[in-house]
Amino acid sequence: MSKLQGKVAIVTGASKGIGAAIAKQLASDGASVVVNYSSDKTGAEKTVAEISKTGGKAIAVGASVADAAGIDTLFAEAKKAFGAVDILVNNAGVYKFAPIEAITAEDIDWMFGINVKGLLLATKAAVAQFPATGGNIINVGSVASEGSSPNASVYSGTKGALDVITRSLAKELGPKKIRVNAVNPGPIVTEGFISSGVQGSDFEKAMIAGTPLGRVGQPDDVATVVSFLVSDDAKWVTGALLQTAGGLR
Ligand SMILES: NC(=O)c1ccc[n+]([C@@H]2O[C@H](COP(=O)([O-])OP(=O)(O)OC[C@H]3O[C@@H](n4cnc5c(N)ncnc54)[C@H](OP(=O)(O)O)[C@@H]3O)[C@@H](O)[C@H]2O)c1
Repeated sequence: MSKLQGKVAIVTGASKGIGAAIAKQLASDGASVVVNYSSDKTGAEKTVAEISKTGGKAIAVGASVADAAGIDTLFAEAKKAFGAVDILVNNAGVYKFAPIEAITAEDIDWMFGINVKGLLLATKAAVAQFPATGGNIINVGSVASEGSSPNASVYSGTKGALDVITRSLAKELGPKKIRVNAVNPGPIVTEGFISSGVQGSDFEKAMIAGTPLGRVGQPDDVATVVSFLVSDDAKWVTGALLQTAGGLR
């Protein structure tokens, strides 16, 4: 039997990039998957089609994690399609790298609204829906929470918050048999990575130079780790911040 057979997973921000790879990996390991997106319906439908083509089960649900109404829609649609949710992957996240002088109040609200508030709201909804037998939450963080790179104060701040939230919730939710872990990637080639201008930049070169395994990551480098952590193979792991970065610190 596949290791996630019978499980239902919501993956936020799964229309592309790391989220799409996680959705496909969880489906190939047997889970029914809710592919959440914010604006890119075509991308989400492509993720669903790729899952269906290989015999998996998935639906696409458009909803912003940054507001409570979006979260309500996401969890209501998930329940309607597949019943109770067992796994939440808080992957939706946005990033912009700029010196503090160029950062606006809107940038701060945007990054914290999706990366932190969205994660907390989705987690609250998942905890209310998880069965009495427990559940699994993965927060997709970043090595940026430790790396102290220049021009990353806001983004690093959101991911630092994610690390602390993960540890706090692991303690709070352990008694309910809910495991909470973070998977913290280094640079991963995704649509967002490319459009933010990191690919080909001196910043990317410096990160590769600091990566013992000597390359940037691919989305499936993260997805397989997420699938392991939500499976019973990791049943004794909670509150972990697992670097998936080729050794980059
Ligand atoms: N790529 C990297 O190098 C890297 C490294 C470390 C950590 N990460 C983290 O990994 C996660 C995914 O990054 P990525 O590079 O794969 O990003 P990406 O290619 O830009 O994709 C972002 C995803 O998030 C979704 N999203 C954005 N705002 C949303 C909202 N309000 N509600 C729901 N979904 C929303 C997007 O949906 P739409 O397409 O519909 O807008 C898209 O599916 C993020 O948390 C990021 O911080 C990335």
